[in-house]
Amino acid sequence: MHTPVISGSGVFTPAHVITNDELVVAFNAYADRYNLENASEISAGDLPEKAHSSSDFIVAASGIHQRFVMDKTGILDPGIMHPILPQRDDETPSIMAEMALEACTKALEKAGKTAADIDLVIVAASNLERAYPAVAIEVQALLGANGFAFDMNVACSSATFGIQTASDMIRAGSVRAALVVNPEICSAHLEWRDRDCHFIFGDVCTATVLERKSDVTTPHFEVLSTKCLTQFSNNIRNNNGFLRRSRPGGMQDRRDMQFMQNGRKVFKEVLPIVSRHILSHIESEGVKPDQLRRLWLHQANKAMNDFIGKKVLGRVPEPHEQPNILQDYANTSSAGSIIAFAKHSDDIAPGDLGVICSFGAGYSVGSVLLKRGA
Ligand code: COA
Repeated sequence: MHTPVISGSGVFTPAHVITNDELVVAFNAYADRYNLENASEISAGDLPEKAHSSSDFIVAASGIHQRFVMDKTGILDPGIMHPILPQRDDETPSIMAEMALEACTKALEKAGKTAADIDLVIVAASNLERAYPAVAIEVQALLGANGFAFDMNVACSSATFGIQTASDMIRAGSVRAALVVNPEICSAHLEWRDRDCHFIFGDVCTATVLERKSDVTTPHFEVLSTKCLTQFSNNIRNNNGFLRRSRPGGMQDRRDMQFMQNGRKVFKEVLPIVSRHILSHIESEGVKPDQLRRLWLHQANKAMNDFIGKKVLGRVPEPHEQPNILQDYANTSSAGSIIAFAKHSDDIAPGDLGVICSFGAGYSVGSVLLKRGA
């Protein structure tokens, strides 16, 4: 059996940024326009009036201050309210593959590897821009990587489930070095016309290089173990899919074709699952909470992370023990915990332990216990 390590990570950050204030101005203009256009139905009680959003609410409810997106013009146009990402011809690299390239290049550079060293590419994300061919195979070809590639989707837990998959293959010897890539264009499945959630998501791509410990040439983290868990829930759901055309009314502008969640229930139900999951994972490895130097948590909500950090460590974590990036990036689905890891792991001392943990739709939870290599 080989020992898997994470030897590199990289982040692609889109060029467009939207502050809460910009977002709220656009949403409120859209709501005013909607209320005017539907004034008679609203006054007859047939339609509810759309209420305004507010930056203060967004910061208080989520801790989010801004988000990066692939296109802000459509999102901020009250007559459009979604990103405009034109279809590319089939010979041009697809948008997810393009995002992946920059994140992979940075991760490979950090690992001191070239694409030719890679023999597995997993694109693990909440949404994939087409059914087939796999985006991962396109990324493999554009990079010039060897071996094989495939896509997988476990919503917000895609990255950690991908890391478990790659780690297990490295342990077993079926691959030597892997790239796990998470291109998340959450702006395309977010319902920007719904004030309950319009602030939640942003776009990004992260990449992680995993390889055999015996091959590593740069500072790295040994993957001590991984643990994945799923428990079915409809509280985060998106009904879009290939059966849409075949269903009566399926092609209409329907709310359930975008991200839907019962946020309060998610909050209440997921928190205990996640803190129990991390504690039982480290216990099974003989690790005590006070041995953890860092928690790189999923980045959905600051209050959620504060709660999990306190439950796991048994005290309020210091900011450096549980770094948040959601104030800058918002929720980037599976990529969030990997952004936190990529930006806040260089200072960890050899021998120190940390946990990457993601959680979300499914429900799904994935944790990766890491030890800084010598
Ligand atoms: N601006 C102003 N007020 C708003 C608003 C907005 N943008 N959105 C909602 N409100 C109002 C609501 O209408 C509600 O008003 P009411 O009390 O009069 O009914 C009030 O603010 C509270 O709304 P609620 O949705 O209950 O807020 P919340 O405190 O639960 O925060 C979330 C909402 C989504 C931030 C929070 O539930 C959450 O983070 N849940 C988990 C998210 C998560 O992890 N999802 C995983 C996705 S992968």
